[in-house]
Amino acid sequence: MDKIIVHGGATLAGSVRISGSKNSALPILAATLLTREPCTISRVPDLSDIHYMLTILSELGCEVERASGTVTVKAEKIRTVAPYDIVRKMRASVCILGPLLGREREAMVSLPGGCVIGDRPIDIHLKGFEALGATTLVEEGNVKMRAPNLRGTTVNLRGKFGSTVLGTDNIMMAAVLAEGTTIIDGAAEEPEVVDLANFLIKMGAQIEGAGTRRIIIEGVKELHGAKHEVIPDRIEAGTFLIAGAMAGREVTLTRTNPEHLQSLIVPLTKAGVSITSQADTVTVKSNGTCRPLHLETLPYPGFPTDMQAQVCAMLATTDGISVITENVFPHRFMHVAELKRMGANIELQGPTAIVNGVRKLSGAPVMASDLRASAALLLAGLQAEGTTEVNRVYHIDRGYESIDDKLNSLGAHIERVKA
Ligand code: EPU
Repeated sequence: MDKIIVHGGATLAGSVRISGSKNSALPILAATLLTREPCTISRVPDLSDIHYMLTILSELGCEVERASGTVTVKAEKIRTVAPYDIVRKMRASVCILGPLLGREREAMVSLPGGCVIGDRPIDIHLKGFEALGATTLVEEGNVKMRAPNLRGTTVNLRGKFGSTVLGTDNIMMAAVLAEGTTIIDGAAEEPEVVDLANFLIKMGAQIEGAGTRRIIIEGVKELHGAKHEVIPDRIEAGTFLIAGAMAGREVTLTRTNPEHLQSLIVPLTKAGVSITSQADTVTVKSNGTCRPLHLETLPYPGFPTDMQAQVCAMLATTDGISVITENVFPHRFMHVAELKRMGANIELQGPTAIVNGVRKLSGAPVMASDLRASAALLLAGLQAEGTTEVNRVYHIDRGYESIDDKLNSLGAHIERVKA
């Protein structure tokens, strides 16, 4: 298994180009199942999660071509059964349910298991499909759905932890080909949902309100092929912002969308980090002295759960007491035990981390446990004294395109040791 060795203490400077968004590209690629015609998606990041999605599409019968960041999918004839061995590697594979049901009126997809960040149920997705007229059955580890009459309806997708991103995507993708009008209340407002809606609209769907809590979809008979460029990855951008705040002299992110980063830029500015934005660039300057923060994760436009671990790494060496509450995935704190091995002083009280900033972290061998936790350990390693060895880096390759090369281009000293 590959590992990443981070030699701490380098100062970062320069500019880094942000990749296309993983969490936009995944449902957009799934949406290509909705038409027989070819769709061309550009700015698709080169990540293992994307590779899994393309494998799933091929297994379902699609012709898939990939040339660097551009993927063409032609789903002329498709199967509606996705067994465990093709979906188990990635939880986001649930987002093929909506397009399969929308186009073929049936689907049998194996349920992805839980993951380290929590239980990850799909009850709200199923509630939405049932509201559209589907019968759903969970049997032998598979979700089986049939909807000979898929009809528009009003459905509220808000759960006890707020809105659901892939749940909103799934219901939207089924509803675009349902008969009549669907109103999704309690919809997720994430930019990735808006990106998917924009792609569906290019395919001929009628959707209003994406990016708000109420999405209205007028079903159409069929969709056609379309071309689309994926939006910039706001979580990758946020991770580089934190890297700049922790170890940077001046770091500029290019090809990003500053508006999508506001929920991070506002607290970082409050903490004393200097951040300036232009049309599609953001520059972060740090004088190395941040103030502590009180934060809670919330669905967009709140502070993102996908940035919680990275900010925790930053606050670990921020003088004073910071408090971070995780409202979206209350158990998403695997990075804490590893940061503590590096000398961090963090106490967990239920879904809240109390971070008492220490002067320095010290390098240590640590274990990546999920995607964002791995990023947090890399960031901690950049600033730590000595060498940090991050094991199980396949987690990081799921969601960050060439993160080691990008950080090295800014002046970091990171090596990847191939197994
Ligand atoms: N939830 C339910 N029932 C459901 C669906 C969700 O209770 O049927 C709960 C979840 O357990 C969680 C909350 O609702 O407590 C929000 O989960 P959501 O459904 O929004 O998560 P998701 O759509 O499965 C996406 C991202 C995650 C990101 C979350 C929250 C993709 C592929 N994944 O997951 O990204 O953390 O939204 O913003 O878009 C990551 O990139 O590292 C990652 C985990």
